[in-house]
Amino acid sequence: KATQPPRLSVIGTGYLGATHAAAMAALGFQVVGFDTDPTKVAALSLGKVPFYEPGLDELLVEQVESGRLRFTSDVADAVASSDVHFVCVGTPQQATSHAANLSHVEAAVRAVAENLVGDALIVGKSTVPVGTASRLRGLLAETAPAGVRAELVWNPEFLREGKAVQDTLHPDRVVVGGASARAEELLRTVYAQPVAEGAPFISCDLPTAELVKVSANAFLATKISFINAIAGVCEAAGADVTVLADALGHDVRIGRQFLDAGLGFGGGCLPKDIRALMHRAGELGAHHASRLLQQVDEINMGQRERVIAMATEACGGSVLNRRIGVLGAAFKPDTDDVRDSPALNVAAALHLRGAQVTVFDPQASDTARRTFPTLGYAASAEDAVQGTDVVLLLTEWPELVALDAGRLAALTATARVIDARGKLDAQAWRAAGWEFTGLGRIAA
Ligand code: UGA
Repeated sequence: KATQPPRLSVIGTGYLGATHAAAMAALGFQVVGFDTDPTKVAALSLGKVPFYEPGLDELLVEQVESGRLRFTSDVADAVASSDVHFVCVGTPQQATSHAANLSHVEAAVRAVAENLVGDALIVGKSTVPVGTASRLRGLLAETAPAGVRAELVWNPEFLREGKAVQDTLHPDRVVVGGASARAEELLRTVYAQPVAEGAPFISCDLPTAELVKVSANAFLATKISFINAIAGVCEAAGADVTVLADALGHDVRIGRQFLDAGLGFGGGCLPKDIRALMHRAGELGAHHASRLLQQVDEINMGQRERVIAMATEACGGSVLNRRIGVLGAAFKPDTDDVRDSPALNVAAALHLRGAQVTVFDPQASDTARRTFPTLGYAASAEDAVQGTDVVLLLTEWPELVALDAGRLAALTATARVIDARGKLDAQAWRAAGWEFTGLGRIAA
């Protein structure tokens, strides 16, 4: 009946789905998470998160124990036990183009549709190219059993890895595209708590909802590439981009966040999302957006080349047989995710050029080792820098930024450091005897 709270299913239990499932259970809903991977389902059922995400383990255990949250690899079970189905599967970049691979999203909608036993609301949360949701509506109409009223809306997710729990429970906004009055009412029930806390509920059409998400990521990426482009000017002019960014950030119209110059953006979202938007905008004939994002991507990838060149210079023109200590492998702090990680990318490139590279990361060594097993991995920052010709800070984990410059200097062969994240205290490191180079602040 209308007074019963809706029961929820979450299709796909990766970073997005696992967090969404646990958070919705924490809001008091009955939730079932579905994944095709039985090992993931087994781990999650025991309250174990198969990746590193601060706070998620605790929340998961609590919600599984409460009886509100369970996981299954049986899609018919998940669909039959719920009224609202959140599609949270991945949309990775295609192997042979910049376009997004929509096979998982299509498979998820098809699987839900085929198994519907009554009226249902399907809520897409995955990041998709504009126009996808409307096509999925066609798929739903073809596939759903006769007599079932099934509606599909889009409700993009804006969570950050490392802050996923907080972002899901306290979103900046709730965007819902293409909802009927009944669907909007259901989603207002689901998101009642965040909305009561002040998150605006923005109801719009399907393409706008799809585009809000990719535009947000494209803007963030553009902001990073902007400051990295300015960092190049700073280097050429003898200015310091870290001081410049702080000064810029005081203008509330600009804001200080996402103005950290350095190695640039990576991860499972920003790089593939700007490429997918570049591709889609091109298809739609919106060439200014394509060209802008092409530049954003080029500037970003250029930062990796720049750091490789700086490391090569620090080694006297060639990294062959030089020892390089790499601090950081994750694409950013507070995650063990190494998908399109600039840090790991640079480490691997130096290795391919003949350097002996030893990597230390507080959480991502295992995921990094699986991706690049031929790099050396150390159990501590000290071990990673031992006897090295140059040390690179590539991911700004707080514990790496706080390392004792004096103690480390004595361990290396030459005490040369390149700060590719603009986070080390240049003065303190120089005072401790290091030859310090920072992106965008060479002359500091
Ligand atoms: C990003 C967005 O921030 C989320 O809002 C979005 O929901 C998510 O993608 C997604 O689409 O799912 P995330 O990939 O977790 O979140 O990472 P970010 O915190 O955005 O960082 C992305 C990259 O930018 C990292 O490699 C980081 O090191 C880099 N970055 C960030 C900079 O180089 N400079 C900065 O000033 C900020």
